[in-house]
Amino acid sequence: MKFFNMTTQIEKIDFNSIEKANKILCDGGIVAIPTETVYGLGAIATNPQAVMEIFRVKGRPSDNPLIAHVHKDYDICKLVHIRQDYVYDLIKAFTPGPLTLVFESKGVVCEQATCGGDTLAIRIPSHQGCQQLLKRVDAPIVAPSANLSKHTSPVTANHVYNDLNGKIELILDGGKCTGGIESTVLDVTGKTPRILRAGLVTKEMIESVVGRCEIALHKEGDKIKSPGVKYKHYQPNCKTALFEYGDLQGVLKAYDEEIKLGGKPFIMCSDEFISKLPNKNLLSLGNTPQQIACNLYDKLLEGEKKATLIIAISMKDEKGINMGIMNRLRKSCG
Ligand code: TXA
Ligand code: MG
Repeated sequence: MKFFNMTTQIEKIDFNSIEKANKILCDGGIVAIPTETVYGLGAIATNPQAVMEIFRVKGRPSDNPLIAHVHKDYDICKLVHIRQDYVYDLIKAFTPGPLTLVFESKGVVCEQATCGGDTLAIRIPSHQGCQQLLKRVDAPIVAPSANLSKHTSPVTANHVYNDLNGKIELILDGGKCTGGIESTVLDVTGKTPRILRAGLVTKEMIESVVGRCEIALHKEGDKIKSPGVKYKHYQPNCKTALFEYGDLQGVLKAYDEEIKLGGKPFIMCSDEFISKLPNKNLLSLGNTPQQIACNLYDKLLEGEKKATLIIAISMKDEKGINMGIMNRLRKSCG
């Protein structure tokens, strides 16, 4: 067993660092890697020891399965059964990109990664450096987000460093993630695709290709299909509060109360509210849903460093990307 006292290097993702990462991975180690959504903590999916090391380093519950990442020319039929014809249309429309598909597994990926389940989640990331690494390794790499379990997911190499310094050897730096929230997880084992985790590939986008798409509802007592959804998630290391869209009175009251307690509140909101919140500490998320998704974790992680309380404001609705944003806002700040 390794202990947590190694030196952690951050290296720009390029030919040399990819060679180094490939060697670490092939020797059974783990490496933090950039993707277009969030940074991942990768291991070769067929190596049980390496996969178990991911769970240990993150402090991840052992019943929460991992996503296998492959390059765009990888034949996923080596790993899973494709039972539904609509899957080919989804792959054509949305990959490489922020979409994870859950299939019936062929059992090639080790059971430590799938947590003994009979399904396997697969994703083909679009991040160029990540694609190059996946090509070099030419094997599936399982990778959860590269944060400590329950903490906010990292969208820069420095965010990864702050959580995993001393615990891993290498972080490949591929710049700030452009997507900003994790991939959409879609169950494609049945006749109708079913969203298990909302993300940047939206229900509307999937419907436009397949004609239909369900949202999995996780009610108390249900057999949970995507284990990750039952855990606490994405939480910054400070107090948080979430207010309804437009409840500026509530926001200002919480702000003033925190000041009275001697704290330092910050309001995290889209730019449309900025003019209505003069002289307040702000974490501004930008304007469009794309910008807000891209900035969300970055601002939560900036906020935890300087705020005692992050006050978040809900999106206007849950259409399109807003569904994924609201899902993350509820878990991180709700
Ligand atoms: O964008 C992403 O998906 C990032 C980057 C690194 O690719 N990865 C990521 O992994 O978010 P993680 O482990 O933090 O979240 C994976 C989610 C969890 O909610 C997990 O329960 C679900 O996917 N999942 C994984 N395998 C599954 C399976 N076989 N069936 C259902 N859900 C699965
Ligand atoms: Mg995660």
